[in-house]
Amino acid sequence: HSIIYKKEVTSTQEVAHELARNGAEEGTVVVAETQQKGKGRLNREWHSPSGTGLWFSLILRPDVIPQKAPQLTLLTAVAVTEGIMEATGIQAQIKWPNDILIDDKKTAGILTEMQSEPDRVQAVIIGIGLNINQQAEHFPAELLTKATSLALENDGTTFQRADVISAILKRIEQWYFHFLQYGFKEIRKRWESLAVTIGKEITAVTMTKTVSGLAEGITEDGVLLLKKQDGTTEYIYSADID
Ligand code: BTN
Repeated sequence: HSIIYKKEVTSTQEVAHELARNGAEEGTVVVAETQQKGKGRLNREWHSPSGTGLWFSLILRPDVIPQKAPQLTLLTAVAVTEGIMEATGIQAQIKWPNDILIDDKKTAGILTEMQSEPDRVQAVIIGIGLNINQQAEHFPAELLTKATSLALENDGTTFQRADVISAILKRIEQWYFHFLQYGFKEIRKRWESLAVTIGKEITAVTMTKTVSGLAEGITEDGVLLLKKQDGTTEYIYSADID
C-alpha cells in the first residue's frame, strides 16, 4: 500500500477524497505534518499544529451498503485505542461514537466520510487525528480540561510518532480483514469492552433534541441504545455525549 506524506495540506481528508475519486487503491494513507483546515465532526475545526500529532486519512473500499459504513468508524476506534495502548502502554478508552479518551480527556478523534452511490459505497475515507507530543502550553487554556496528548499523559515524555502510526495501521488492517471475513460481531464486543459510555447515565444532544438515559450498548449497526426513565429505548444515530 502507499503511504503518501505531505508537509502541509488543507486537510488530509480532501487529499484522500481526490485520490479516491481518481481511483487510488484501498489501503492508501495520506499523512500530513500540518493541516491548514483540519476538519472535525459536525463541521468543527480540528487544530493540527506541525510536528506534534498524527493527522492522517485512510482510503478503504469495502463492498458494503452505505448503512454499514458507521461500523468502520467503530472498527477504527477499536484499532486506534489498541494501537495507542500497544505503542505507549497508556490505558485508553472510547467515548461513543469515536473519541479516544485518556484519563477522561480527548486525545484522538475519527472522522468517517463516504463517496457512495445510492446502493453501494465507492470509498470510505477515514480521518484520524491524534495528539501525541503536545505539552500543556500547546493547548489553549480552555481545552486543557477536555483535551490531552500521549506525552501529557506520560509525564511530558514524548513518543516516536512513527511507532504509534505503525501500531495503529497494523490494528486497522487486522480488524478490517476480520470485518470483511466475519462481519461486525467481534468488533462490536471489543468496542463495548473498551467504551466508557456503556453502562453510564448520559445525556445525548442530537440535532433535534436532548435525551438522557442509561447507555445500554450499541446495535449491530453501531447505533447507541439509550434507555430512558420511562423504560423506553431511544436509538441515537448521531449526537454529542455529556
Ligand atoms: C473529531 O473528533 O471531531 C474528528 C477529528 C478528525 C481529525 C482528523 S486529522 C486527519 C483528518 N483530516 C482532517 O481534516 N480531519 C481528520
